[in-house]
Amino acid sequence: MGLFSLRSLLSPCVSIAVIFLISSLIGVTFMLGPETELNSQTFAKPARIAVNGLLEKERNNVWDGQWNGEDIVDAYRQWDATVGCEEFRKNLPPLMPIESLQDPNHVKCSELKQLHVSVLVKEHTWIPDSLNNLHACSCGLTCLWTKSPVQADDPDANFYELFRPPRKRKEGDPLRVYLDLEAEKKRASQDIFVSYHAKDDVQATYAGTFFHMNRNHYISPQKNRDVLIYWSSSRCLKDRNDIAQSLLPLVPHHSFGKCLNNVGGQDALLAMYPICGEGGGGQHSWSHPLHCAMSHYKFVLAIENTLTESYVTEKLFYALDAGSVPIYFGAPNVLDLVPPKSIIVGSGFSSMDELAAYIKHLADDPVQYAEYHAWRRCGVVGHYNHTRAVSLDTLPCRLCAAISRLGGKHAPALEDKEDGDSSQDNAR
Ligand SMILES: *[C@@H]1O[C@H](CO)[C@@H](O)[C@H](O)[C@H]1NC(C)=O
Repeated sequence: MGLFSLRSLLSPCVSIAVIFLISSLIGVTFMLGPETELNSQTFAKPARIAVNGLLEKERNNVWDGQWNGEDIVDAYRQWDATVGCEEFRKNLPPLMPIESLQDPNHVKCSELKQLHVSVLVKEHTWIPDSLNNLHACSCGLTCLWTKSPVQADDPDANFYELFRPPRKRKEGDPLRVYLDLEAEKKRASQDIFVSYHAKDDVQATYAGTFFHMNRNHYISPQKNRDVLIYWSSSRCLKDRNDIAQSLLPLVPHHSFGKCLNNVGGQDALLAMYPICGEGGGGQHSWSHPLHCAMSHYKFVLAIENTLTESYVTEKLFYALDAGSVPIYFGAPNVLDLVPPKSIIVGSGFSSMDELAAYIKHLADDPVQYAEYHAWRRCGVVGHYNHTRAVSLDTLPCRLCAAISRLGGKHAPALEDKEDGDSSQDNAR
């Protein structure tokens, strides 16, 4: 509040000062007649020249147009001086409606049948504890999300992840919610199915942060200058290995996992980056040191285990969150789900040679490389707010709304709708 009132007091003075500064810099007198075209267009342009002019001077003194190929903040500054957020936003493609993301408010307030819903998380592997809460949602809905049968002593729904729910439910029993975020997701015996696709009952993208809260305990300010790509994979699927094998030999890289390891084994990481073993519960989770390590590279190779629509997993989002640029092979509609100009889509190149040449070219150009980080420095752009709005982080309220719409425990028992699927069930 204090800051707000100070700001509103200051802002008129500041804007007047800025206008005077700009007008004196570009030699426009402030006494403009009504016939002078002082529209926003002519005004915006000189302002940019003035700002760039200042930075240009600063750059000549400090940066000298050079880049050591390592210092990421230096690359940011050079991008600020030559492009900047205003220009970046102006050149973004217009926002078109997309079908890859579900409306986070697709349950309307008038459809809610009860205003409090409780969800008991019964079986899970990586549903984060940070979701446990009594959530206050829109439309006056409240949502108790807990792993404790003491807190949810009479739940409206039981939540299952990985472990399949019971095949039968009768009216008065909790609804069965089933979450499966794997590529080969299969509907199980459930009333509500949660998965990564917009057409599933409730969508859950991987763009949230709750399931990797402490992973980015260290982000390196230096990028490796000569070794450009980080890769780590220990489940050596043939298709994935084939892609890696066709690209990696063309670009200097480090491969830390079991597949195509070139750093002298899986233990090499901590020897190379001792800082990655400190803090963030390093030794308690294999993934924490990996995140820290990938932040030392300009590019992270991210290849999904399956190339299918909307299946965009933590492999990509971890790389973004670690401050790197993913080179991505996976879902054909990936660009709907990530910030604009944040990733390099492998399939967009006619050959691996062309892709490799582009990567090397970017690595040497601080301005073009920094542009791939603009999205994180210029505020949320594109559809990324939407991708985040339907992530696992926001699942409780969205799921509780879906449960309420069905009437919770009072929903009639469904015909076993997955019966036609039972051969698939057995095949698993
Ligand atoms: C995301 O931002 C855009 C533009 O600001 C807005 O139109 C849209 O409603 C937002 N989407 C969500 C899901 O918040």
